[in-house]
Amino acid sequence: MHVHRFERIWLVAALGMIVLFVGTVTYGAAVAGYGMVDAEGGQVDSTDPAASESFRDPGVYEGSEPDHYDVYVETRRFAFVPGTGEPIRVPAGSTVTFHVASVDVLHGFEVAGTNINTMAIPGQKATVTAEFDEPREYGLVCNEYCGEGHHDMAGTLEVVP
Ligand code: CUA
Repeated sequence: MHVHRFERIWLVAALGMIVLFVGTVTYGAAVAGYGMVDAEGGQVDSTDPAASESFRDPGVYEGSEPDHYDVYVETRRFAFVPGTGEPIRVPAGSTVTFHVASVDVLHGFEVAGTNINTMAIPGQKATVTAEFDEPREYGLVCNEYCGEGHHDMAGTLEVVP
């Protein structure tokens, strides 16, 4: 069978691109991770994050450095614990690391008006750190559809003087 020289060149080029694409996707999934989970996070028990080594009972904890706080938040249909009902309270002038996990389905954790916005993937811990300088009240929002109560899933973060 006679294959034209240019045809052969294009055939090889096309095959090369397929190999490249497959390689890129495989590398992204296997080596670099999907990029959706914070590298500082980790695995947690998908139904009881607080039972995991990398998670604590939901609440606000003083950090190892002055003015640093760790806030462990469980997301569940359809509440933030703490955050819904009982607000999360941190003092102004503090650096806060939020550790977020889900006890059921995929939720979002957004502190409205800031760039804090992460997914709470069942079985994974998301970690995000931010500074809060001024006393202010922020809304907490779930921005991943999680069921019929999704639109009511909200909470409060109080930065107190
Ligand atoms: Cu939780 Cu939407």
